[in-house]
Amino acid sequence: MSQRPYIVGNWKMNGSRVMLAEARAIDRAAQRHPHAEVALAPPFPLLGALREAVSAIGVGGQDCHTAAKGAHTGDVSAAMLADIGADFVILGHSERRRDHGETDALVRAKAEAALAAGLGVIICVGETLEERDAGQAEAVVARQVEGSVPAGEAVAVAASRLALAYEPVWAIGTGRVAAVEDVVAMHAAVRARLTAIFGEEAAKVRILYGGSVNGENAAALLGAEGVGGALVGGASLTADAFLPIIAAAAAPED
Ligand code: 13P
Repeated sequence: MSQRPYIVGNWKMNGSRVMLAEARAIDRAAQRHPHAEVALAPPFPLLGALREAVSAIGVGGQDCHTAAKGAHTGDVSAAMLADIGADFVILGHSERRRDHGETDALVRAKAEAALAAGLGVIICVGETLEERDAGQAEAVVARQVEGSVPAGEAVAVAASRLALAYEPVWAIGTGRVAAVEDVVAMHAAVRARLTAIFGEEAAKVRILYGGSVNGENAAALLGAEGVGGALVGGASLTADAFLPIIAAAAAPED
């Protein structure tokens, strides 16, 4: 099954209302590149305004709570994201696993809550440099996939609204992109885990690569076997930097 490449910008804790102009420019470019599915995940305070500023691209949050509402100061629920017009949420990013001690089990619970709220979910996995150097990269990522993706009743709806993002921790924000052959090998390993969990439905789950993706390396990464898109940090903050990545996702018929 052939799916559109999914190009997602994760603004992390960056952005201000001035940057809505960048989002508008990215939105206009996405209209010129319908072969790619483009989305932005701004910080929570910008979510509503960004949603109203764009029409062709998806909009998502960068985290959500497991509960729909309640006494959880500072948290945001999946239902709130859906209510403000978000289409999806990024969960289990390595920066949240690191900064907030998020475990696979917590990421799974958040993913199940997000699916129940009607959102799409992008679950992030990836090994540290120490784990790669110790030859444990595939085992670590397989464990994260098995522990983080939805289980139980959520499995029935999960595959059609789920994406995985393989983001080696050492490649994030470092300018040090993973070798294409290593990305291909890891995506195949992730695909195998997903097939064990979802069966044939696993074919619907896109596996994105993230970590120092830019306009120069995007074509090689996006053209690699098993790479269904990119999760982009720094290079998604301006239209100038993001547009070449969207263009690199060009389908052969374009
Ligand atoms: P960079 O593209 O800045 O390396 O960030 C990748 C990332 O963490 C996206 O979620």
